[in-house]
Amino acid sequence: MRKQIVSGNWKMNKTESETTQLIEELKQQDLKSSVKVFVAPTFVNLSAAVKATKDSGIHVAAQNMHQSASGAFTGEISSSMLLDIGVRHVILGHSERRAYFGETDELLKEKVQAALQAGLHVIFCFGEELEERKSETHFDVVKKQLSTALFDLDATQWQQIVLAYEPVWAIGTGETASPEQAQEMHAFIRSLIRENYDSTCADAVSILYGGSVKPANATEIFSQADVDGGLIGGASLQAEDFAAIVNGF
Ligand code: 13P
Repeated sequence: MRKQIVSGNWKMNKTESETTQLIEELKQQDLKSSVKVFVAPTFVNLSAAVKATKDSGIHVAAQNMHQSASGAFTGEISSSMLLDIGVRHVILGHSERRAYFGETDELLKEKVQAALQAGLHVIFCFGEELEERKSETHFDVVKKQLSTALFDLDATQWQQIVLAYEPVWAIGTGETASPEQAQEMHAFIRSLIRENYDSTCADAVSILYGGSVKPANATEIFSQADVDGGLIGGASLQAEDFAAIVNGF
């Protein structure tokens, strides 16, 4: 059985006190125990989040990390720094990292390998832009993103990978992929893994959908056969909305 996962990606939102407060509010919510729940606050608030979530069943993910183990990389954060404060998961490849910070598929391949070797689990994001969807190249784009960054991994390393398909045109726009569009792409992604590995590997990987998921549309999206959960931006910043999404399964 694939894991059902809902992760909040808080992006550059919430101070330390707001982080702790939102986690306390989430802990008051009745969250479905069958769903694995993550929050991903910004770097400076990860420690506080780890402490606040202790024994709650809520997990903490980082939003990024550097590919090197240590060294002269001003402003950067390494895998060992994350592990040392109790963070076991990292989001890599978010479209905002790709668009605003120049992260390429080749760089992401390095980051993924560094994270996995350090023992972190990776939530790997990818997805096409609006022009690519319009020109109907979205399947090719996704195939290239996945094959460059992930298809050199061996099958056992996939146990540490969660995929998050996030069409860029649906992020923060209020426009969601239709449940059919999400299912079509998720099924394609799973078929790619099946082709490059095998059915056991493909059937075990959780594939999340991200892009304007809200309480009102979560159930319909999560009910699709190959959608195993969501990566939630805006609606994860409010405890009731996020809980309603988690309980949308
Ligand atoms: P929104 O839910 O705000 O569209 O953001 C999605 C996202 O980027 C999650 O990583």
